[in-house]
Amino acid sequence: MARTIFITGASSGIGAATARAAVAQGWHVGLFARSEDKLRALADELGDAASIFAGDASRLDDLTNAVDALAERGGIDAAFANAGKGLSKPGTEAGDPDEWRQMVDVNVMGVLYTARAALPHLRRRKGHLVVTGSAAGRRHISGSIYGATKWFVHGYAGNLAEEMREWGGRCTVVAPGMVDTAFFDTPKPEKLHPEDVAAAVMHAIEAPERVGVREIFLMPQN
Ligand SMILES: NC(=O)c1ccc[n+]([C@@H]2O[C@H](COP(=O)([O-])OP(=O)(O)OC[C@H]3O[C@@H](n4cnc5c(N)ncnc54)[C@H](OP(=O)(O)O)[C@@H]3O)[C@@H](O)[C@H]2O)c1
Repeated sequence: MARTIFITGASSGIGAATARAAVAQGWHVGLFARSEDKLRALADELGDAASIFAGDASRLDDLTNAVDALAERGGIDAAFANAGKGLSKPGTEAGDPDEWRQMVDVNVMGVLYTARAALPHLRRRKGHLVVTGSAAGRRHISGSIYGATKWFVHGYAGNLAEEMREWGGRCTVVAPGMVDTAFFDTPKPEKLHPEDVAAAVMHAIEAPERVGVREIFLMPQN
């Protein structure tokens, strides 16, 4: 039977590329994001292997309803907490506290909520949680509040990997440097491509059961 992965932030960039890679390797995918039109277009491309769930990753109910509905169709083997956003105005003194709140709600609370919604299902299958960290969550970048949300993601992923190991589950943080996605206003074709990050996710979730891939750190060569 095909395995199933739930993906947040599946409407574009890394999440959409991971959905394509997973379907190409025989997985079923549950696609979650706010842009229902984009999810529908991707699902049309992917065919019967894809189900769509429009929702906001900063809302626990949206995630729980989506994950439960996907699980009813045959269980969940993996979840990818990937939805995230940056800031239009960086810095503690110059930045906008309302924008910080929205970012923390997705980048921090959204990861916790995805884990909360998925873990009861993953536990049944000795499943896998993957989270999108960042190079910005591994080193200090002057004044970066976005980077600090990714430090949270890295810390949480390591702690969760220890917890999930107690029942045979696995947790991986995938940490890319700059990726050419809609995250940036201008194209970055010389940087990593979303497919490169998708390949890292697939490596982690396809690894033999004895292998806990804890972190994959990818940097562009240029
Ligand atoms: N691009 C980079 O250089 C880079 C590097 C390291 C890490 N990352 C991380 O990679 C992840 C994916 O980003 P990306 O580069 O693929 O950018 P992207 O193309 O802008 O994708 C972001 C995704 O997150 C979703 N999203 C944002 N807020 C959401 C919310 N409140 N609820 C549900 N979904 C939400 C978006 O969908 P909707 O707008 O449709 O909801 C979209 O699918 C993020 O966590 C980002 O921090 C990116």
